[in-house]
Amino acid sequence: MRKNKRNIVLIGMMGCGKSTIGIALSYKLHMPFVDLDNWLEHRTGRAIKDIFAEDGEAGFRELEHQIVEEVSAWKGFIISTGGGVVLREDNMELLSKNALVIFINRPVEDIVKRVNTQKRPLLAGPDGKQRLFRLKEERYPLYRQYADMEVVNRGSFHEGVQNVYRAVRRNLYAGRKRQHNA
Ligand code: S3P
Repeated sequence: MRKNKRNIVLIGMMGCGKSTIGIALSYKLHMPFVDLDNWLEHRTGRAIKDIFAEDGEAGFRELEHQIVEEVSAWKGFIISTGGGVVLREDNMELLSKNALVIFINRPVEDIVKRVNTQKRPLLAGPDGKQRLFRLKEERYPLYRQYADMEVVNRGSFHEGVQNVYRAVRRNLYAGRKRQHNA
């Protein structure tokens, strides 16, 4: 896998486990890890919630796109994305050029039990959790459209990591795409 330096891109809803699974996977696969939101904060020197507050969602999406342009040129990385990265087709064209794209599917019913809505600008406010269900309707078709594979993450953290790890190994070593692991 290191030979062709393909990236692994994790997509999915806020709170589905992209970053925690991505970090664990980076140890198991000996691949460096980057979280697009963290990298965006690092590059701009601004917190995501401040960008939303000052520039609105449109401003955030533009910065997010610039970060996608930068990071998608890297090779051999595990890339955790923000939940809305799929809203722009050009983001996904860039990210999937040299990558295995994995949709981490954690049921929204499970996400709402734990997600910190205050930390996520799109969910802030009293109806934050209902908003998550609306976002699901809008985004699940996009996650499925862009993913090479889908892994359900409804158990423990450890199970989530193992499921993704197995799926990656099967896919990368067999050289196959478009598998589903439910
Ligand atoms: C967003 C998800 C967030 C972050 C921003 C917008 C979204 O990332 O990019 O708040 O539109 O779903 P996480 O998916 O890592 O929470």
